[in-house]
Amino acid sequence: MSDLAALENETLESIASAADEAGLEGVRVAALGKKGSVSALLATLGKMAPEDRKVRGAAINLLKDRIVEAFEARREVLKQAALEARLAAEVVDVTLPVRPSPLDNGRIHPITQVMDEVAVIFADMGFAIAEGPDIETDDFNFTKLNFPPDHPAREMHDTFFFSPSADGSRALLRTHTSPVQVRTMLAQQPPIRIICPGRTYRCDSDQTHTPMFHQVEGLVIDRQANLGNLKWILEEFCKAFFEVPEVTMRFRPSFFPFTEPSMEVDIRCSRRDGEIRFGEGEDWLEILGCGMVHPNVLTACGIDPEIYQGFAWGMGIDRIAMLKYGIPDLRAFFESDIRWLNHYGFRPLDLPSLLAGLSA
Ligand code: DAH
Repeated sequence: MSDLAALENETLESIASAADEAGLEGVRVAALGKKGSVSALLATLGKMAPEDRKVRGAAINLLKDRIVEAFEARREVLKQAALEARLAAEVVDVTLPVRPSPLDNGRIHPITQVMDEVAVIFADMGFAIAEGPDIETDDFNFTKLNFPPDHPAREMHDTFFFSPSADGSRALLRTHTSPVQVRTMLAQQPPIRIICPGRTYRCDSDQTHTPMFHQVEGLVIDRQANLGNLKWILEEFCKAFFEVPEVTMRFRPSFFPFTEPSMEVDIRCSRRDGEIRFGEGEDWLEILGCGMVHPNVLTACGIDPEIYQGFAWGMGIDRIAMLKYGIPDLRAFFESDIRWLNHYGFRPLDLPSLLAGLSA
């Protein structure tokens, strides 16, 4: 047998016995690679006489073609075999029952859910989210919000004060999210359009009050921000949040030191068989406080009230969560009872979205 025939036989045998694509690649490199046996043969052509080179060259090239062909064919076979083995190994029996995953046990707390719902609705209207610390100064929680020193409203807030520090100032747990308005106005120039969700604290506890609760504040400051804008925003919010096509709202005069005029807002509802329905009925339900930002607050926060005006509102998140999801007792929110969470909580992957439905 000629040396070429021997090499061909040997290489074809190796190709045929390669067990997988990696093994086959090894054979390919050994024959056709830069330092492979066929390449070595081709390298000998240079030193041959032209007549011999013609004959020998043609023979080596034919050999090379046959090896390449065998290699391609074997690669196809091995590829197919690998695919079939994988399909067999990864077979899924779709008739098997779905096993519960840890995700099925965890639940999103209704307060977190409602905060997310509120954020989605206001983000759609172009609001940014602002946050501030739970421990505040008296200045940001009260003074800059136009509460005069010794004003009774400071007492109405049932404030948790810390012990006075050496300079006589007292830190406190913020009694509302309104100090985040102050922080935002001090830090950025109008136009401002923010919501501030967060924890708030008052020394109070019964079926509808807990020492720690949650609020969401809204603030818009611009040259022409007005009560008409505020009314539209609140109406759109209520329709989206309570997932009803229409709401009727009632604005009642009220008092907050930081707004003038100040109003409380009720929405129309019906209460039948222990169930509240919004957008219909004869009853009214208070849901938030709001008003035009007091010029004193703008001035205290470095904004010129001759140029800018704005409106704000504050809403209890726990309260609107209770209303929307029919939760009767506020205290249960903070008892971490797993049975309660299983009942009132939300599935972690069902994130609220305006397109897919807020509470779907
Ligand atoms: N901070 C008020 C409270 O806790 C709620 C509130 C009312 C906030 C009117 C506002 C507002 O921004 O304009 O009772």
